[in-house]
Order: sequence, then structure tokens, then C-alpha cells
Amino acid sequence: MVTEPVRAEALRLAGAGELPAYVYDLPALRAHAARVRAATAGTAELYYAVKANPAAEILRALDPYVDGFEVASGGELAHVREAVPGRPVAFSGPGKTDAELDLALAPPVHRLHVESPGELARLIARDIPADVLLRANPELPGEDTRQAAASPFGMDEDGLAACLPLLAGAPHVRVRGLHTHLTWAQHDAAALAALARRVTDWALPWLGAHLPGLDHPELDLGGGMGVDYRAPDQVFDWRAYAAALPATGARLRIEPGRSLTAYHGWYVTDVLDVKRNHGRDYAVLRGGTHHLRTPVARGHDQPFTVVPRTLTGPALTGPALTGPATLVGQLCTPRDVLARDVPVPGLRPGDLVVFELAGAYAWSLSHHNFLMHPRPRFRYLD
Ligand SMILES: Cc1ncc(COP(=O)(O)O)c(C=O)c1O
Repeated sequence: MVTEPVRAEALRLAGAGELPAYVYDLPALRAHAARVRAATAGTAELYYAVKANPAAEILRALDPYVDGFEVASGGELAHVREAVPGRPVAFSGPGKTDAELDLALAPPVHRLHVESPGELARLIARDIPADVLLRANPELPGEDTRQAAASPFGMDEDGLAACLPLLAGAPHVRVRGLHTHLTWAQHDAAALAALARRVTDWALPWLGAHLPGLDHPELDLGGGMGVDYRAPDQVFDWRAYAAALPATGARLRIEPGRSLTAYHGWYVTDVLDVKRNHGRDYAVLRGGTHHLRTPVARGHDQPFTVVPRTLTGPALTGPALTGPATLVGQLCTPRDVLARDVPVPGLRPGDLVVFELAGAYAWSLSHHNFLMHPRPRFRYLD
């Protein structure tokens, strides 16, 4: 859906010759975050996974509705400290450098998520107090965790066990609980809550057996709440999810990214050319996947709305594409495809194409410098 302020801004930008552009609707983002907050309050703490969209304007808009921010690099950590100073930060991610560990300890982040026994040893050697969660990647029953199990992230039970003797001699490193992020793109709230139950059913006995002194342990369940790119108006059922989370006495935390910010960012551009090639209709757009890489990264068609414009000129009045059409960008690669063989309502050069669900894993995920095209503009409507 394209909100009215975004549609108006798209037309204004087009008139001013300022396309392509990312447009964000901050009041709508705040309203969405407030709903997520209301649904989860009292059940789980809410952190925002900054990697989904680190723009300072987005962080500040979300700030009143979240308990903290999850970062995955020293760069994100420094940026969050500047954009939303003093807010709790959890620092995750494999391959933390010594410099990143030092940054995380001065001043200490709220939680440091330890990825391996080696990382723990380097942390302990710094001899600075730290509150940590061990990132667990346990073997749990169910298909939905297979992708995590086949990844380098976190520690299986052997890795976790290898942490225990290290911790025994390091009282300055205080384990507060476990961190997990075991699935991705889960649209089904009941299924994600069921995974949370499998995690707690495994994690709490593990903590009880191996770290018995731990009072009121923390369990960070990660993110992974799905955004359905085929049904852009469908939103994860936060109420159902929160209602089905297990009540265990543990302090639960979630750290969604995509499902918080995807809905309120749009990539706005216009059609430069339409053509038929080898039996396929193409609309060539200004910009492309060097600005919005999401559809390539995920292998989907990015949903969009066409805003027709009546323009005159030699190239602007020809026959319209009526679909199905393939929407491509300006890059010299056949992979620069934003949507393939999709119905269009009649597309001519000059028409605006407003890509939806472009608020997460979009600009920051893209290979901006390829071919040295101009960068898009950024508008944060407030
Ligand atoms: C550790 C961790 N937490 C949270 C997230 C956010 O996931 P999502 O944007 O799917 O909610 C990610 C994404 O990669 C992650 O790696």
C-alpha cells in the first residue's frame, strides 16, 4: 500500500526531477511500532535489529517503542550510540575483532552476545566487567531450525560446554542467559511461538544444569518474523505470537528487524524506456537493484504500485505496456531485475513506480557504487 503522503511526495519528487528516492512515512512507522509494542509489552522485551535499516531517522522514530537496539558490528554500535545515545544495546555477530570488543566494553554495552569459545576467551582476557548472553545454536527437533544448524552462527552444545571452564575462572564476565536466532522469514505467528517453546524447553534445563546460580535467566529469541512480499498488506500477527509465548519465569527478549521497518519505506522511481526483446516486455527504470537489492537477495518480485503520469514528448506518448512486464534497472547485468513477468496496469515512460516493502534490508543491503549511477534521495516524512 502506498500511503497518501508518500504518493504526494512521489509526485512532488518526480516534478522536481529528484528521482529515484527512498521515502519513509515516519508517523505510520511509529503507529506500527506502537502496535507491536502494545502486543508484546509484559511478555517480551523488544529490541530493534539495526541491520534491517540503520538510518538515524528510523532509529529515532522507533526509539520510544523499543527497549533497545541490536547491532552486529562496531560500525553499527558507534552509529547507534550517536543516533540514540544512552539506549541499551545488544551486540551480536560472528567474527568480532579485538577493536570491536574494546568498543563494546567502553562503555559496556547492555548485552554482548558471545559467538564462540574463542571469542569468550578474548573477552575474558580484557579483564573488564561484561554482561553476556551465550549465542546458542542447539540441535532442536523441527525443519525450521535447519538453516541455523547449517550455519556458523552461535554454538552447539559442544561449543557451549567449552565455554563453561573458561567462565569458571572469570567472575567479571557475567552470563545472563542465552541468545538464539534460529529461523528466518516465518510468517506464521503460532509456528514462531512454537519454536520459542522448543527453545525455552531446551534452554532453561541447560542453564539450570550448567549455570545453576543464574537467577531469572534471560532468553533472547532473536528476530525472523516474516514479511510476505507477495501480500504486502499482510502483517505478522504480533498479538497471537505474544499470547502464545511460553510463560516460564525467564526474561524473554525479541529482536525483530524486517517486520518492524519493511512496511514504511518506499523506493520511488520512474520509467525511462519500454521495449520488447525476445518476446518479453521490459520497463527500464531509473535506478535499479544497486539501490534496492532486496528482490535479488531474496529471489522475489518486489511489490509495487504504478502512479501514472500524463507526459508529452516523442518517447512518452507511445503505446503502454499492459503486462506481463519485467521491471529492470539501469545496470549492465541481467540480474538487475526488480520484478519479473508481472501484470502492469499500462506502463509508459514517465510513469512512476513506487516499490513497497522497501524499508528493510534495502538501501543498506545494496551495492551502491556499481556503475557509478547517482544515489537516490532520502525523504523522511514527518
Ligand atoms: C542475530 C540476529 N538477530 C535479529 C535479526 C533480525 O532478523 P529479522 O530482520 O528477520 O527480524 C538477525 C537477522 O539477520 C540476526 O542475525
